[in-house]
Amino acid sequence: MAKKKKILVLNGPNLNLLGKRQPEIYGRLTLEQIGKKMHALAKELGVEVEIWQSNSEGELVGWIQDAPKQFGAIVINPAAYTHSSVAIRDAITAAGIPTIEIHISNIYRREEFRKHSYIAAAAVGQITGFGVQSYLLGLRAAVEQI
Ligand code: DQA
Repeated sequence: MAKKKKILVLNGPNLNLLGKRQPEIYGRLTLEQIGKKMHALAKELGVEVEIWQSNSEGELVGWIQDAPKQFGAIVINPAAYTHSSVAIRDAITAAGIPTIEIHISNIYRREEFRKHSYIAAAAVGQITGFGVQSYLLGLRAAVEQI
């Protein structure tokens, strides 16, 4: 498939625990189950998705740097790095491909420290608070950008 039609979905720290981590906030679906929904939607939309997760900031930065070689857009849930990582923000800016920031919870309805995103200014836009739907809306938004 042409590189433009491939979308990279990145997940930051602790998202490997989805399904068992604070289900009252993040729901009961695992990342693998969310992935299945994304692959189904991708098929419908005529694109391909790859879904990766890392607990390491450096690994995420490396993946973002390399993304333009293979992918037309990025959907990223930076998780806790949203609120701390200038490195991920700079990598997104450097990569220069459309990037959509997503969150399962509404980060503006939670603790004060979650209300600031270092990523938002580097992203095309942000989708926050729609549960698993944030991933699917993020994918639709990315497809609109490519
Ligand atoms: C999150 C929100 C972040 O504040 C938090 O650190 C996460 C998940 C979300 O998807 O709601 O790990 O990005």
